[in-house]
Amino acid sequence: MTARAGTLPEGVRSVRWEGPDGYWASDDRRLVDRAWVHAWLTQEAYWALGRPYAVVDRSIDHSLVIGLYAPSGEQVGFARWVTDFATFGWLSDVFVSTAHQGDGLGSFLVQAAISHPAIRDARLVLATAPVRTLYRRHGFEPLQSPERWMERRPGPSVAPDREDPSL
Ligand SMILES: CC(C)(COP(=O)(O)OP(=O)(O)OC[C@H]1O[C@@H](n2cnc3c(N)ncnc32)[C@H](O)[C@@H]1OP(=O)(O)O)[C@@H](O)C(=O)NCCC(=O)NCCS
Repeated sequence: MTARAGTLPEGVRSVRWEGPDGYWASDDRRLVDRAWVHAWLTQEAYWALGRPYAVVDRSIDHSLVIGLYAPSGEQVGFARWVTDFATFGWLSDVFVSTAHQGDGLGSFLVQAAISHPAIRDARLVLATAPVRTLYRRHGFEPLQSPERWMERRPGPSVAPDREDPSL
């Protein structure tokens, strides 16, 4: 049977993690406050400023999401894995809301994310400018072979070698 995009692989159960001071994390996508996540990303995240709601919505549908929640159930943080659940996972859109930063919740969120059983055997990567020490503490290192990595940014693009009509 083919799994619906974004659902956990067969045999992997949904996870809830208990954190400090009654805070908790969960991979249950139904709990995610999408409007709040969108508002934070589009207004506060240096990498996602202006990201449209529809894009955030679709990214949540098709990612393994980890929500961070206060004891009351209010959402206070977010992270997501872009992953095939087998070989590769990209940790993305990690944040803790400003009022809750500095109390260890970011560390708890990252620890929860990397301990998720669905990505445990995958190669894990992320891109960040600040807080590299936080990720180092959780086993991330600079790319060993950055010269092997390339990127293609969204938007109009023409491969230069195809502009030559003789090719
Ligand atoms: C990064 C972030 C998730 C950390 O959350 P947090 O709850 O403040 O993290 P913690 O309290 O667990 O602290 C973890 C470590 O990160 C450090 N840290 C937190 N924010 C930092 C920042 N902006 N720059 C540098 N270091 C930072 C803390 O000093 C701490 O280091 P220490 O353990 O050596 O003292 C949170 O600050 C955040 O959402 N920032 C804005 C979004 C962002 O930059 N996300 C990361 C891009 S992938």
